[in-house]
Amino acid sequence: MKSNRNLTRGDGRRLGNATLIAFMLGSLLVLSLVRARFSPIGKPGEAIKTEEQEAMRKGSVKMETLEAGDEAAASAAAAEEEEETQPKAGDTTAGGGGGGGGASSAAVAAASTTATDHLTKPVCYESSRRSDTCEATGDVRVHGRSQTIHISPLEQEWKVKPYCRKHDAFALSHVKEWALRPLSTADTYPAVPHCTVNSSATAFVLSTGGFTGNPFHDYTDVLIPAFITAHRFAGEVQFLVSSFKSWWTNRYMQIFQRLSKYELVDIDNDDEVRCYRSVVVGPTFHKELGVDASRTPSGYSMVDFRTMLRGALGLERAVAEPSGDRWDIRRRPRLLIISRRNSRAFLNERAMADMAMSLGFDVRLGEPDISTDVSKFARLVNSADVMVGVHGAGLTNMVFLPAGAVLIQVVPYGGLEWLARGTFKEPAADMQIHYLEYMIQLDETTLSEQYPKDDPVLKDPYSIHKQGWNALKMVYLDKQNVRPHLGRLKNTFMEALKLLPHGHTN
Ligand SMILES: *[C@@H]1O[C@H](CO)[C@@H](O)[C@H](O)[C@H]1NC(C)=O
Repeated sequence: MKSNRNLTRGDGRRLGNATLIAFMLGSLLVLSLVRARFSPIGKPGEAIKTEEQEAMRKGSVKMETLEAGDEAAASAAAAEEEEETQPKAGDTTAGGGGGGGGASSAAVAAASTTATDHLTKPVCYESSRRSDTCEATGDVRVHGRSQTIHISPLEQEWKVKPYCRKHDAFALSHVKEWALRPLSTADTYPAVPHCTVNSSATAFVLSTGGFTGNPFHDYTDVLIPAFITAHRFAGEVQFLVSSFKSWWTNRYMQIFQRLSKYELVDIDNDDEVRCYRSVVVGPTFHKELGVDASRTPSGYSMVDFRTMLRGALGLERAVAEPSGDRWDIRRRPRLLIISRRNSRAFLNERAMADMAMSLGFDVRLGEPDISTDVSKFARLVNSADVMVGVHGAGLTNMVFLPAGAVLIQVVPYGGLEWLARGTFKEPAADMQIHYLEYMIQLDETTLSEQYPKDDPVLKDPYSIHKQGWNALKMVYLDKQNVRPHLGRLKNTFMEALKLLPHGHTN
């Protein structure tokens, strides 16, 4: 079942801009060095633009544009962690940064140069630096097995990979390409396929290839972009899933059923010709674990995503408030410790729990893994007022925390602030979650036992970052366990307590 999660994710190049950010913070000098060395698409912007326009003329939407959006890169830095996680290659997407910005307008420009095209927006466009989206209405006929969508009217052929990580060649190598073709009414090739199934819903083609299986990627690459795209249809949308994996879709079936009134289709293995009046190919990405409300049709946001999630999974707490009888003095705030076992583990979990109890917390431990039932674990997280864990995909469970709860991200030793920021710190605000950070210091990491005092690993983490994502990951993410200093951690827990309504009410 998990076979395709653990592909070798080698390739230090993918480090790309994620690492760059770290360097930006550190030193401009290093930044320039690394950019030259790791940038996965080492072409100047202009060359790319030209190439892209050429491609557009040919009707291909494989836009490899690499925008300069560096600030964006900061949040794109995002994501990496976990055994299965990937460094985001030249992923400059992100952070709300001007979305469909540069490349999208380039697409428009290119389209308008073709004399006959008077559309305000091409059928396919770069909906963000991380995603391409195609939208069409008319006579839409989807033939899944050939990954072809016949459309009338349509002026030219388009190609697109419907997965939100467009600059990451490794991720996209596991995503099938779809073709949108003009539906010819003349008796020329290709022949007009006859509808075997008619639907009044909008068809929505997306892929669950890529990096799915890692919860961070599940949400940031697929589920949240799918919400961004599908929410506006109020259920009148049918998910046509390419690179379908039943274990994966089953895991998130309640979410799909919340977004759509129609059966989800394993579209690559589908022999029907499914006919619709409109189609969307490729979900739209906004930002890491986030929705940019200003770019949605009716201003829906991460708050709406979380409301949808609570509805889908039956989560009771919208807000982190003491429940039950308000006069019950035993009502205590709940602190959930996210455990990890093989790397970045807390070595003094028991003592941490005892200390938290002494502060008045009701303490729970949770260790999510791929076999964990999503809604069961989601209910545990939703019952918590504070969630603490070492940086890793497990913190993605923050999506289930009630509003007003506190997330404490424990950042492993090694100059990883940028990684912590892009993945879980920045998304917290839009989720209405308070965010606190606990930085692991030298006397709290097992690295100080593995390396001599003056080793660069301990003295100069950025010199390790410079060697690429794999080196960084191996040293600071895979080989490190932590033992937080209870006195310092206590201060952070008390800070969290102050942020909660517990104890302030009477
Ligand atoms: C689908 O709709 C078309 C156009 O109305 C009709 O000709 C065709 O018979 C329908 N096919 C099915 C399978 O219902």
